[in-house]
Amino acid sequence: MICPSCGRENADDARFCSACGSPLEVEPAADVRKTVTVVFCDLVGSTSLGERTDPEALRELMSRYHRELRTILERHGGSVEKFVGDAAMAVFGLPQVHEDDALRAVRAAIEMRDAVATLGLKVRIGVNTGEVVAGAGETFVTGDAVNVAARLEQAAGTGEVLIGAATERLVRSRIRADATEPLALKGKSELVSAFRVRELRDDIPAFTRPIAAPFVGRKTELARLEQALETAVGTRAPQLATIVGPPGIGKSRLARELIGRANARVLVGRCLSYGEGITYWPLQEMVSQIGDVRAALEEGPDGDLAAVRIAGAIGDSDTPSTPEEIAWGARKLFEAIARVDPLLVVFDDIHWAEPTFLDLVEYLTTFAQEIPLLVLCTARADLFDQRPTWTAPRPNATVLMLEPLSADDCAELVSDLGESSSDTVERIVETAEGNPLFVEQLVATLAEEGAGLEVPPTLQALLTARIDRLAEPERAVMERGSVEGRLFHRGAVAALLPEPDRGEVGGQLLTLVRKELIRPDHAIVPGDDGFRFGHALIRDAAYDEIPKRQRAVLHQSYAAWLTSRLGDDAPDEIIGYHLEQSYRYGAELGAADPVVGEWAADLLARAGEAAHARGDMHAAANLLGRAADLIPGHPRRPELLAGLGAALHATGEIERARSMLTEAVSLGNAAGDGHVEWLARIELAATDLESESGDVEEAFREGKAAIAARESAGDHEVLARAWHLIGTTHNWRSQAAEWRDASEQAVTHARETGDLALEVRMAIGLAGPIVYGPVPVDEGLRFADDLMARLGDVPEVQGFAAHVRSHMRARLGEFDGAFEGANAWRHHIHELGQDIMFAGTAACVWDVCSWARDWTHGEQVLRESYEMFEQMGMNARRSTIAAHLGEAVLHQGRVDEAASLSIESEQLGTSDDVYNDMAWRRLRAKVASARGDLDQARALAEHAVEIAAGVGFLDEVALAWLDLAGILQVVGDPEARRAATEALGLFERKGNLVGARWARELLDQTSPSPRRA
Ligand SMILES: Nc1ncnc2c1ncn2[C@@H]1O[C@H](COP(=O)(O)OP(=O)(O)OP(=O)(O)O)[C@@H](O)[C@H]1O
Ligand SMILES: [Mg+2]
Repeated sequence: MICPSCGRENADDARFCSACGSPLEVEPAADVRKTVTVVFCDLVGSTSLGERTDPEALRELMSRYHRELRTILERHGGSVEKFVGDAAMAVFGLPQVHEDDALRAVRAAIEMRDAVATLGLKVRIGVNTGEVVAGAGETFVTGDAVNVAARLEQAAGTGEVLIGAATERLVRSRIRADATEPLALKGKSELVSAFRVRELRDDIPAFTRPIAAPFVGRKTELARLEQALETAVGTRAPQLATIVGPPGIGKSRLARELIGRANARVLVGRCLSYGEGITYWPLQEMVSQIGDVRAALEEGPDGDLAAVRIAGAIGDSDTPSTPEEIAWGARKLFEAIARVDPLLVVFDDIHWAEPTFLDLVEYLTTFAQEIPLLVLCTARADLFDQRPTWTAPRPNATVLMLEPLSADDCAELVSDLGESSSDTVERIVETAEGNPLFVEQLVATLAEEGAGLEVPPTLQALLTARIDRLAEPERAVMERGSVEGRLFHRGAVAALLPEPDRGEVGGQLLTLVRKELIRPDHAIVPGDDGFRFGHALIRDAAYDEIPKRQRAVLHQSYAAWLTSRLGDDAPDEIIGYHLEQSYRYGAELGAADPVVGEWAADLLARAGEAAHARGDMHAAANLLGRAADLIPGHPRRPELLAGLGAALHATGEIERARSMLTEAVSLGNAAGDGHVEWLARIELAATDLESESGDVEEAFREGKAAIAARESAGDHEVLARAWHLIGTTHNWRSQAAEWRDASEQAVTHARETGDLALEVRMAIGLAGPIVYGPVPVDEGLRFADDLMARLGDVPEVQGFAAHVRSHMRARLGEFDGAFEGANAWRHHIHELGQDIMFAGTAACVWDVCSWARDWTHGEQVLRESYEMFEQMGMNARRSTIAAHLGEAVLHQGRVDEAASLSIESEQLGTSDDVYNDMAWRRLRAKVASARGDLDQARALAEHAVEIAAGVGFLDEVALAWLDLAGILQVVGDPEARRAATEALGLFERKGNLVGARWARELLDQTSPSPRRA
């Protein structure tokens, strides 16, 4: 462990530094978390150097050594944290993060290594990037990244620079390095990968970097730039155009597109973010493109003088020039060139330009005379900090603000970059929010990592750097806003700031808007102002800078603020979320506050129950799961787990549901809470029914046992659910009348609880027996009307009643609107995330389709469910869907497909599922008939009719008879009439006009005394 005070190496378990006595564990007054790059540099062989060298000379040498290191580190923007003997430690990223900190650090390392060699010394250097905490305004950091950097330095050979993997990722495109064997570093339990730096790659001249993908979008912007160039050529009045926008939005690329199209001589130069003597760097680049400046300038004294001025600017002459003289020289140069050809001069990244250079650019476009010149600049909004007047309207100036690319353009870019899976394309487009640089980096990370769409470190650095460039109060505003989320309110920011800082918030927010970090948006809280982070990743970057201890506090303060503003309207889910965050960060730091945890759990549970009540099962599962996690060992946990299990069951997560419910049963039992125990037991039995091992008899017994156990206590909720379970077992056994009775019991008990949502849920359970059982069609329609009269205020009930009507109307041959009703219900269930039920509703749509003989639509819906049940591993459910699907394809003439579906249905079905037994035989009988195997057809159809005797679903039994009648008719057996008559009788009992018509048609065809025309 390295002492944070003096840098001395200490034993890993030491609590105090052996050299200076400072406590080693103490965290500094932590104010910011940052990703920084740490450099350790140590002299090799200093002991023997001391033996060999005269002390006086040694002292002189060492102080030169120290000076050299400090100069180099500081020139690259590093802050030298300390010198310990011969070793130096420096941090890049404090007090301010730069987007290229890692590269700066590696460059400095290489320079240090080479510079000390000229002193006859040798060093070894370690560089590593990672998250640290530091006191505000201090350069004093703690974090694993520091230790690893120190260890890398120790592991480095003489004259070597070793960098960590995180650093390497950030500088990969700019240096050459070789991976070392993974290193076993002291104090690290795992091997650490590291890279040995060879050299910097050559700098790539501006606008020549290879392009990854074709240009997309930006048609209008490009047209405006071309227009500006045309104006310059047409009027010979110099034009200035500036492309403005956040990093990566495509400013340079747009400029490059113009360069590619311009019919003009082009000179390009870019402003550098740091370095010595960089003021005229862009000019220097242009000069090297021109080659012989003297030749380019015109003959005469002005030309000579201009050449001298320019040489002075770029360090080619000892004659110093003033900025004004240099600007004049540059103007003369450009004028001379533009007299020969139209000239396009591009200055990239002028937000980094020195003020002197900005003056030069403005001077150039104001004073250049009578030449076809377009000066094109690119800049981030930071430029306006320095030079607010840049946007001032001027006759010859254009400012182009680049907006994010459209989603379509982005998607095109993603696929141009080689990403083809439509899912991934969509996710990248969503994350990148129109920023092409983000698109590129996300695609690259994905290709590298193979999985996960994490924020690439390069973007992280870019975004953090933008925030770090802000003045402290503005940054504080960003951080407070990020606690609320992507969308935040002025009032919340103020409330989370210390009292004295609140007055300035309005102005600071405006500054942030101007800098394109945030933009105004709708306020959710009445009477407040809303803002939105310009990009989700900006919000994340701001949030990441807040130390966890402070996050814990801020989330709690935010919850308090929102509650104070919205009172009872404050959404449980949101307040619960912030308290949850507060609790979690506290827990991570070993200071979990159980009161906050319980409070959060309470609110999340309430939100979860509300979601459950409105049937939104994915949300319910999420919220209840989070609530349960917050209160291990709490008396409420079993209840939450029971609810969670039910929600998971509904979403089709059977295995997780079972494990939650099993825990709920045992916790409920241990706590002597019969209500919760039985709720969980019933749900567990219902869930088991969906799984491979599902046992209908067992579930039935469990339902009865629940009633026996909870009847005397008047526990209507348990009773309702128990009857519902019993009803389900009757459904599995095709006992429609019993199913209906049980469902009615369930509704009655549910009504007793006064819980409307429960009553609705139980009433929905009545639909099955009413639609498929012996209940006549008109009674079914009345059922729907009654339900509407009683519970019609619940939107869910409206959809549900409409769907029951669809089933009934289809039997009356009224197909108009029947599909809509069934489909709307199905869609509703889908939106609620009740995946099992959704897959089940295919049977509803199929029911309507089958009476309407719309086989293609039926097939499509069934296939979707078939696949869902397959994915969820629910074979028993899939077996029946397979039989229906077989019917749908058979009617479309696909006999072989129908044959294999009938086999599948047979194999997947459980032994006690009589309905399925009947269904696959009916299908196979028709397959056999279609193939001309009439004996088999007949045998199967007769068998199906036999089984149908035990099936309580009237229409289905009638259809079995009708199938048999059809086959007998083909065979020419007069028994066909009797079978059709059976079918007719059943259809008439049901009031099924469509079925009855089919039966009559068949009877007509088999008429004993056929009338001949
Ligand atoms: N319209 C576009 N079509 C295709 N690729 C684009 C487009 N715009 C930008 N890109 C690509 O996205 C990346 C980022 O663009 P660019 O370098 O122009 O951003 P910038 O706005 O100049 O950012 P910075 O402020 O960092 O200089 C580049 O690789 C560029 O080629
Ligand atoms: Mg650029």
